[in-house]
Amino acid sequence: MASSDDEEWWRRAVIYEIALISFQDSNGDGKGDLAGLLRRVDYLKWLGIDAVWLTPIYRSPRRDFGYDISDFCAIDPAFGTMEDFDQLLGTLHDAGLRLILDLVPNHTSDEHPWFRESSASRSNDKSDWYLWAEPGGDGGPPNNWLSRFGGSAWEWSESRQQYYYHSFLREQPDLNWRNSAVQAAMSTVMRFWLTKGVDGFRMDASAVLIKDAMLRDNPPNPDANDKMPPPQRFTPVFTDDRPEAMECIELMRKVLDEFPRRLLCGEVQGKADRIGHFYEAERPRLHLPLNFALLDAQWNALSLQAAIDTYFKALPDHAWPDWVIGGHDKQRVASRIGAAQARVLAMLLMTIRGTPFFYMGDELGKPRAPVPRERVDDPFERLVPGFGLGRDPERTPMRWDDGEAGGFTAGAPWLPMLDDPSCNMLRQQNEPRSMLQLYRQLIALRRRYPCLAEGEYEPVRARNGILAYRRSLGETRMLIGLNTADEPRRWNCGVRGSRLISTYLDRPAEPVDPSILLRANEGVVVLQADGRETDPSDVANVRG
Ligand code: NOJ
Repeated sequence: MASSDDEEWWRRAVIYEIALISFQDSNGDGKGDLAGLLRRVDYLKWLGIDAVWLTPIYRSPRRDFGYDISDFCAIDPAFGTMEDFDQLLGTLHDAGLRLILDLVPNHTSDEHPWFRESSASRSNDKSDWYLWAEPGGDGGPPNNWLSRFGGSAWEWSESRQQYYYHSFLREQPDLNWRNSAVQAAMSTVMRFWLTKGVDGFRMDASAVLIKDAMLRDNPPNPDANDKMPPPQRFTPVFTDDRPEAMECIELMRKVLDEFPRRLLCGEVQGKADRIGHFYEAERPRLHLPLNFALLDAQWNALSLQAAIDTYFKALPDHAWPDWVIGGHDKQRVASRIGAAQARVLAMLLMTIRGTPFFYMGDELGKPRAPVPRERVDDPFERLVPGFGLGRDPERTPMRWDDGEAGGFTAGAPWLPMLDDPSCNMLRQQNEPRSMLQLYRQLIALRRRYPCLAEGEYEPVRARNGILAYRRSLGETRMLIGLNTADEPRRWNCGVRGSRLISTYLDRPAEPVDPSILLRANEGVVVLQADGRETDPSDVANVRG
């Protein structure tokens, strides 16, 4: 088990999201699997992360990347067996790494036995396990609620002569979380995995667990326009963020808390002002509502400074922050801000106060990979085309080496691979200044200086395109300066100290003056000397 065995280990952890299907194949079927991931545990250890979050590995018809689950307590055969899972969990724990699974409480697959039973008639044991409703006045859907994946969120069932509700695909019916039997069933699912020893969950779609009981129509979005995907042209007042959804989260947290040292993080989409109430009110809710502020912000020092400030301000007292810079739903950040600034972002992520989350391939600077129309897998792209919503470009397989199919598979990869040989693990491992080495060194620096993980955060006014802040813990003071410009900029950091690391990775730790010329796209971490001259030999050499 990990050495940092305390209750709130996740405050200091670096969390790495893995979409198993694209990580490492072991049997040549072109899809990543548990045995493949097992082979890469050494890599995870080398990289220095603390915990893996795995996207769904459960039995699923896989119409939505495994988020359509037909058995919550079985491993999908494409990924391996329960024995493979147990072996993986044991190996990760032996390596001091933790494992977080996706928990998808809002919906099941329409192939789940619960739904099969519920939809068979109006009078079975599970008849009230999903959201069933009579047609609207015109015989059509009960109201104007739209699915995220396009069209009405209501689907007609011949057998019941009623509609059922689905926030996402029609093959993903929403569970009725007002039903205590559903609550109990999901608690059993959680206990199943927690008893096995998983270290927590990332709760999917945590904001939509409860829908308005009166089925009131959502109002038109006043900012709607033709460039917006149709589902966003209404404001989801009656389908998202209902107060009772918080009670469901509290209930699941209570189950989690039956087990020591477990983490509950959760998907919360939207603006920073929505995040606060997901943390805790009278009862605990999520430990970490996932924060995408860095992905949503414009990429310049002033906008970033504002986004960071808004987020910190939105947090309740004692809430622990977190930062997510990539994920299986999010456009690859390296494509948006470019390779040079992606290095700056890496430094920001690993030096700001809060738990960092990044997504497999971010550590290689992986950009979006083009996926031709005939290879599209994501239903979002097929059902709401023309808005660039498809998530396949983020989900293409990892390249590990220069081999055929990048060492990912001996067969044909399930999605096309990124056609950029430099974006491969082995090459970057052998390049002292690669993005991968930067990630590794930043993670090592964070571990070496608890100030970076746990210290107080204090903003420094951004000037000249440089985002800056101070971190402090006990006697230690650190300053971080991030040049968001593509040209050299002077940074008056105002202190003497030692530069511990530059995003260029080209200089040893060395003393610096209160005024530093940052190179184009350069970020630096300065350990403040507090008036005393620093002997460079004092300074950690964080190179591994
Ligand atoms: C959020 C998941 O991250 C996303 O990939 C999925 O499509 C929806 N929830 C539906 O489960």
